Amino acid sequence: MNENRARFWLGMCGTLLCLLLAIAGAWGQSSTQRAATAPAGPKFAEEEFKNIQALKGIPAEQVIPSMQFIAASLGVECEYCHVAHANEKDDKKPKVTARKMINMMMAINKDNFEGHREVTCYSCHRGSTEPVGTPVITDEEPRRAAGEEKKPGEAKPALPVAEELLDKYLAAIGGSEALQRITSRVQKGTLTVFGGQHFPAEVYSKAPDKRVSIMHLQGGDSVTAFDGKQGWLSVPGRVHMMSAAENDTAHMDADLYFAAHLKTLYSKFSVDPGEKIDGHETYLVAGRTLGQPPLRLYLDKESGLLLRLIRYAETPLGRNPTQIDYSDYRDAHGVKLPFRWTIARPGGRFTIQVEQIQQNVAVDDAKFVAPPPSAAASKPSTP
Ligand code: HEC
Ligand code: HEC
Repeated sequence: MNENRARFWLGMCGTLLCLLLAIAGAWGQSSTQRAATAPAGPKFAEEEFKNIQALKGIPAEQVIPSMQFIAASLGVECEYCHVAHANEKDDKKPKVTARKMINMMMAINKDNFEGHREVTCYSCHRGSTEPVGTPVITDEEPRRAAGEEKKPGEAKPALPVAEELLDKYLAAIGGSEALQRITSRVQKGTLTVFGGQHFPAEVYSKAPDKRVSIMHLQGGDSVTAFDGKQGWLSVPGRVHMMSAAENDTAHMDADLYFAAHLKTLYSKFSVDPGEKIDGHETYLVAGRTLGQPPLRLYLDKESGLLLRLIRYAETPLGRNPTQIDYSDYRDAHGVKLPFRWTIARPGGRFTIQVEQIQQNVAVDDAKFVAPPPSAAASKPSTP
């Protein structure tokens, strides 16, 4: 985990709340005003921000995700390019260079790759401000990609088909029928953030697709929710209504029958050998639909259980990845559930460990409804 990045977010917001919003991928200019006046139709970046030159014509809500992509690609914090509290200023040289680089990247793709975004900031920068142009001689044996470790002449191991693996996963967690007998779920446990700080956390789910997770932090509650149609995030004084792209992933998270619906979510699935996760061999099943970023599922070769999910949020400059690792699977009312999951992005990670679970109990629909901006602002912080 990049402690510096995490410290940066903390410094910027003064609390963990913004760090979590940053990790959730929804930290932005947006907020109270937007929530109060929504929906006003998509705005262009140059209409909402003061000094947009290279990113003209992209949706305003894509500016911050694009910036997160740039920061992750170069391994820097926002302040590497920006004057604090004045993002529009061009006082720092790297910002001016970065603008040229955005134009360069777009030209490379336009001139060489038929406008497909093949080359991104990360292609050259690989997490550093200074791209390396000369091959490096290392002390280690050259690394081979998974699947290439076979000796010459050895046949490529036969892989199961995706359908079989997705069926095995569904069966491993109890099967479709058992899954659909669950109509609500309440999970209580502990959130652990970088540095090992712990906070109480609760997750409420209701069929078919409502979900709210509440983290009780020092400065107040950080909430991530999907009400069946619209996703939102809130911290005291601030509500962020999710963009269309954010809604899609929030919807997936909220789907109580995700494992049963998986096959219908993507038009094509492929299978590859996956990496070892926590000592478990995996298959990587990738779901694809034309024009959408893929979904990667790492399924335990033996148990069939889902150990890792990686999804991507599209930005005009590149894709921001989110990785969720699932572990500590236990039986709960006929279904097998992960009691522990870790959500990681290039900017940081946090873990939730469930300690108590209830299913098929009444959950009030009001829990999933976004608070009005004013109420969020006046809500006292509950430690
Ligand atoms: C490597 C340099 C670089 C980094 C790092 C960077 N930015 Fe930017 N940022 C830019 C450039 C260049 C622009 C102007 C883009 C344009 O001209 O269209 C910009 C524009 C912006 C704007 C619009 C400001 C305005 O009103 O015109 C915001 C807001 C912003 N960045 C926020 C961030 C945040 C938040 C981060 C950290 C997650 C960040 N930036 C990281 C280079 C950077
Ligand atoms: C085709 C390769 C390539 C791509 C793509 C690329 N860069 Fe660069 N970038 C470089 C090279 C090479 C340098 C170093 C130039 C030098 O040393 O003078 C550099 C330097 C920079 C610097 C100056 C770093 C410093 O020393 O402070 C910034 C900022 C930067 N790039 C941002 C970006 C951003 C943002 C993107 C994506 C929009 C991007 N670059 C895409 C190759 C690339």
